[in-house]
Amino acid sequence: MPKGSGFLKNGRKVLKSFTLLILWNKNQREDNKNINLASAIIVSFKKKKMKQAENQILVIFGASGDLTKRKLIPAMFDLQVQAMLPEKFAILGVSRTDLNDQAFRERMLEFLPKDKKNEKAISAFQEKLYYQTLDTSGNYEYPILRDRLLTLAKEMGIPENFIFYLSTPPQLYELIPQGLASVNLNDASGGFKRLIVEKPFGIDLESARALNKNLLNYFSEEQIYRIDHYLGKETVQNMLVTRFSNGIFEPIWNHNFIHHIEITSAESLGVEERGGYYDHSGAMRDMVQNHLMQLVGLVAMEPPVIIEANAIRNEVLKVFQSILPIREEQVAACVIRGQYTQSHIKGQLVKGYREEKGVDPESRTETYLALKFYIDNWRWGGVPFYIRTGKKLPARVTEVVIHFKNTPHHLFGGQADSVVANNQLVIRIQPDEGILLKFGMKVPGAGFRVQTVNMDFHYDQLADVHLPSAYERLLLDCMQGDATLYARGDAVEKAWEFVQPILNAWKNNPDIPVYGYPAGTWGPDVTDQLVDDGQWRYPCKNLSNDGEYCEL
Ligand code: BG6
Repeated sequence: MPKGSGFLKNGRKVLKSFTLLILWNKNQREDNKNINLASAIIVSFKKKKMKQAENQILVIFGASGDLTKRKLIPAMFDLQVQAMLPEKFAILGVSRTDLNDQAFRERMLEFLPKDKKNEKAISAFQEKLYYQTLDTSGNYEYPILRDRLLTLAKEMGIPENFIFYLSTPPQLYELIPQGLASVNLNDASGGFKRLIVEKPFGIDLESARALNKNLLNYFSEEQIYRIDHYLGKETVQNMLVTRFSNGIFEPIWNHNFIHHIEITSAESLGVEERGGYYDHSGAMRDMVQNHLMQLVGLVAMEPPVIIEANAIRNEVLKVFQSILPIREEQVAACVIRGQYTQSHIKGQLVKGYREEKGVDPESRTETYLALKFYIDNWRWGGVPFYIRTGKKLPARVTEVVIHFKNTPHHLFGGQADSVVANNQLVIRIQPDEGILLKFGMKVPGAGFRVQTVNMDFHYDQLADVHLPSAYERLLLDCMQGDATLYARGDAVEKAWEFVQPILNAWKNNPDIPVYGYPAGTWGPDVTDQLVDDGQWRYPCKNLSNDGEYCEL
């Protein structure tokens, strides 16, 4: 990989001050409020803050599970610290484990921040936690849940506004809604009843359709919130703001100006303790069908008429409806799958996927996937979209790269050497969240030598702004009845329709290779051949350190 030249670095310094000036001038924050990107986000967050959610109870099924401890409870605590919880609010943890309220409160303590300054907030938060032991697999114990909820609501003066969060194994997604309906806990006449469902939304097209059908037997689509934590990421939402609040991007956001679009979601971790789950899932089901398809939806959608759940979700659906299917016979050419193999990283022996706990030693599950596809509509006709994701890659980084077309006339020598030299807009989702624009500048001195330089904005420049975690944002949205950032059933099915022929091809044609790649590398070499007329961007941990050699 080429190292950054001296000019590149100097250019960066000059441009850094320029960037700071136009994107975020702390001293002039008020004056710039409506014109700069950073302020737009703050403004929208403050608006959110003003709209207080109604008093309610959040019921978490699977309360003794990992997600509750690692994500949900810390997110709810953060909301309390931001003063965003309603005045009267409770969390009722539900699971089979035999606990009482006090024991649940103590267990959750471990997952809250430990510093002294939070002591008061923690004890106030703990008082909001309650627990109900329940066997959710049959209908017979749901009356206990109903009685407990109604008593709690009455004692606390909370109307019958309930959110039910299914943080359970997917087998219970059928039973819990049915159990809730058996005691009328789906009936919204006395207060709202909302159901949050975690992925996986099915393991294939057929099961996804069956799941939707089952959920709709007991709850209406408006009551169902399918959570995809990628949509809760601030930088993912920022894609809408970047595209639709600026006059400069949208006119060129189409096949006339864009050469191709690349979405990378790389992880440096392997499957860790989740081998048993992952071996039946693989990168396609785990990342592409949900998170990365949602990113495609936001990058490629038409401007919605208003910022409202169905207006936005209609546009995402239209994108999925327009994707050209990859037919089974095209899979070998358009989709590359890989699996990490044993290697040494920084002198340490690293296990291969097949040696991981819970993984079949002869597994053909993909831990890496790269694919190329087209969106067959007026805006995107002929523009290739590339998606790449994998475990045990050199860095943890997720980003969307818009590669613009070259200029029609190459005035300056060397400018048209490769597509890599073209303008790129990098939307960095994580880490070092931000946006980077690459463009050509004249190298000072004689002649007209062109060098690509960066103009960048990093979210961490917004020093005094709290960036909510994905779960914090999404839970608050559901509490406020805003489903904009939740996936709708029809879009989930459409995404499965795209993915299913690829899964079928792999199942029916074992000859389609599963390429090995040494852990800690950027996946199988053959992936490079997928990108016509260009190459993948190899990102580093820091957004603007691109073009430099990145440490593993
Ligand atoms: C989850 C997948 O949905 O997303 C994991 O099941 C993956 O395998 C994770 O690691 C990635 O999320 P993030 O937010 O770390 O990019």
